[in-house]
Amino acid sequence: MSRPRPSAAKPRNAARGGRLSGEPAEIMQRINVSIDFDRRLYAQDIAGSLAHCAMLVARRIITPEDGEAIARGLEKIRAEIEAGRFPFRVEHEDIHLNIEARLGELIGPAAGRLHTARSRNDQVATDLRLWVRDAIDHLDRHMTLLQAALIDQAETHAATVMPGFTHLQTAQPVTFGHHLLAYVEMLGRDRGRLRDCRKRLNECPLGAGALAGTSFPIDRDKTAKALAFDQPMANSLDAVSDRDFALEFLAACAISGMHLSRFAEEIVLWLSPPFGFIRLSDSYTTGSSMMPQKRNPDAAELVRAKTGRFLGAFASLVTVMKGLPLAYSKDMQEDKVPVFEAADTLELCLAATAGMVRDIAVDKAAMRRAAAAGHSTATDLADWLTRNLALPFRDAHRIVGTLVKRAEEMGTSLADLPLKEMQTIEPRITAAAREVLTVEKSVASRASLGGTAPTLVAAAAKAARARFLEEKKENKKR
Ligand code: ARG
Repeated sequence: MSRPRPSAAKPRNAARGGRLSGEPAEIMQRINVSIDFDRRLYAQDIAGSLAHCAMLVARRIITPEDGEAIARGLEKIRAEIEAGRFPFRVEHEDIHLNIEARLGELIGPAAGRLHTARSRNDQVATDLRLWVRDAIDHLDRHMTLLQAALIDQAETHAATVMPGFTHLQTAQPVTFGHHLLAYVEMLGRDRGRLRDCRKRLNECPLGAGALAGTSFPIDRDKTAKALAFDQPMANSLDAVSDRDFALEFLAACAISGMHLSRFAEEIVLWLSPPFGFIRLSDSYTTGSSMMPQKRNPDAAELVRAKTGRFLGAFASLVTVMKGLPLAYSKDMQEDKVPVFEAADTLELCLAATAGMVRDIAVDKAAMRRAAAAGHSTATDLADWLTRNLALPFRDAHRIVGTLVKRAEEMGTSLADLPLKEMQTIEPRITAAAREVLTVEKSVASRASLGGTAPTLVAAAAKAARARFLEEKKENKKR
């Protein structure tokens, strides 16, 4: 009879140590494990361990030989994970203990020295900060790509007239380029929010230990610097126990998701045949299983819908955190899924939106027709009366309102109301007044700073390129 070889024994979770001799209940293990999701922190975990290890050597807390063995082992583990050959094991609970256990298999007892002057509490806080920092840089690139797509279309359509809405009622003509540039500004602020979040999160928890610091002569500046943090976090309790940086990230994702959702809704509207302002190619539309004529904007609808996930992620994490006493509690293990979900979803939404923007083909005639409908240039006539007859704007507003009513009674539009008819209501109206009623004149006249005049829009697109797309190069140097 052959006895099981030691290597075939059930792997033992290092955190159970000598204190816990019994095995965890199966259900205990199931609720406790996080390896299925926190394996996404592997690169950050290895980077953190390498920095910690180098510091331990520099401070003579471990020997250079052990330090080298640990570093080599960690690099091997990174390669194994990236090649999909790493033996992830639920018995080892999370990414930290999985890597530590594998390190032991690879290099022997020296592996046990890596966790000197460290706890999983400062380790995981460091890993997640690094992960969110990377995610922010990644999302910033995606936001920039979407801005670039919007700016390109805005340049093409600096003079393309469309109806501008308030209350979704035709309000005043605007240009399509102007409308698109509004989203470029929103995305600029979305990027700013992520940048702010990045600034605040960029302090290093490593060295806080479990909660109180450590009795070893560590060098926290060294590890912070090695991981490109600005400085170590000042308070060990705070370092291991707050997740405000993750909440800021989720809030920033939620706000950006909300912006994308509004834009998606507009794509859905513009694409709807009664509007018919734009077309998307087959690449960004789907068919109906029953109605052969359909072309559905599913990608836009899903971008519109996914906002719920961001709000859900924020609500989920803020609920985990509220009421938690200092310092670490296992509740905080629940921080990762919402963060991953929000980051993945935002990336997907940004990429899908950029794809749609590049795909948009504008039906200029349909846009112009809609822009001219609904007496959209009524304000222009009121402005003319105010300017040329020195009327108080309120009086001009009332007169034009009466003219619109008259036009509707006659089944025509304000722009087509005969001059004679206009003069029965305000005799001082001249032929020149009627000229301001075309949509082209209307948008061209809106040349105040930030307005929709085509010349301004063309300049604004150029300026946006310089502000948002060239800034990117500088960020890279950071
Ligand atoms: N997997 C844990 C988490 O994500 C790591 C920290 C565990 N710390 C502890 N004291 N049990 O939060």
